[in-house]
Amino acid sequence: MIVEAMRRPLYTTNFGSAIVADSLLAMKELEESTVNLVMTSPPYALHFKKEYGNVAQQDYVSWFLPFAAEIHRVLKDDGSFVLNIGGSWTPGKPTRSLYHFEVLLALVHKLGFHLAQEMYWYNPAKLPAPAEWVNVRKLRVKDSVECLWWLSKTAWPKANNQRVLQEYSPDMLRLIRKGYKAKKRPSGHNITAKFTEREGSIPPNFLMLGNNDANGVYLEACKRLGYQPHPARFPVQLPTFFIRLLTDPGDLVLDPFAGSNTTGEAAEREERKWIAIESRQDYLEASQARFEQLGSDQIALFPTQDNVSPQATDEAFTLPGY
Ligand SMILES: C[S@@+](CC[C@H](N)C(=O)[O-])C[C@H]1O[C@@H](n2cnc3c(N)ncnc32)[C@H](O)[C@@H]1O
Repeated sequence: MIVEAMRRPLYTTNFGSAIVADSLLAMKELEESTVNLVMTSPPYALHFKKEYGNVAQQDYVSWFLPFAAEIHRVLKDDGSFVLNIGGSWTPGKPTRSLYHFEVLLALVHKLGFHLAQEMYWYNPAKLPAPAEWVNVRKLRVKDSVECLWWLSKTAWPKANNQRVLQEYSPDMLRLIRKGYKAKKRPSGHNITAKFTEREGSIPPNFLMLGNNDANGVYLEACKRLGYQPHPARFPVQLPTFFIRLLTDPGDLVLDPFAGSNTTGEAAEREERKWIAIESRQDYLEASQARFEQLGSDQIALFPTQDNVSPQATDEAFTLPGY
């Protein structure tokens, strides 16, 4: 059955295949050491469950490790595994669960992954939940950051930060143009006179990505065709960032929890091969619209005046009582 699903994808594009299957079984059909990047966001151990189901915090590590073992097996030696995982609250208490840190420790200690870098994604669209702690009793602030554990099979994953440069801020540009006096900073860092204008600045590990409504086509198609939009999509900027940083054109990107196949769209735009595996056929059916009229426009990674999604802002700030 699974072999059949792998042989007969739900749809294919110039660069990829979208497969309806349980990824734990489907990944076993992939050859060892063939994938350059696994970019994925599995269901989190959420307190408030999504419609596709979520695993309980106490079972999360044992549920996830078999998937991660397959990911480790299919990755090339210089490949990367980027795991987008959100934090969660302890049921009934205003304290945080440690499950996403336990996952990280298990991936490193039990499966031998290396932590290339811990990264964080600021997601302004996250709702202020649980309302009890944030809005009603006003004991906690909004949780707006998700973890991105960048793991690798060896200590030397392929990477090039020059492909994800960010525009300089006006202040920085002024400083560069005026010239910088070489000196030792109070921190002890020695800033030399070689500090000159390049194509942009190296982004930090705290990602504030734009959202230029690349999902517009997807949402419009869901409406037109009568599909419920996927409830937990990440913006196309997120996989695009890691695809540019960690792969070359023609490399293979895998998303074993593909949802609405945002990763596939990013890979297609960046001319990387991709495999998307998702257990719900309706999610993948709706995702096909992403590829129908894929423009040649370049995705702008970082926020500019016109790519901060008004939808995200509305969701975040106009709920009753906030
Ligand atoms: C957080 S969502 C991914 C959303 C995706 N990043 C996007 O942008 O649309 C996680 C997805 O994993 C899927 N899933 C859960 N268990 C799975 C499994 N064993 N095999 C394949 N997909 C699975 C769920 O149906 C859900 O769509």
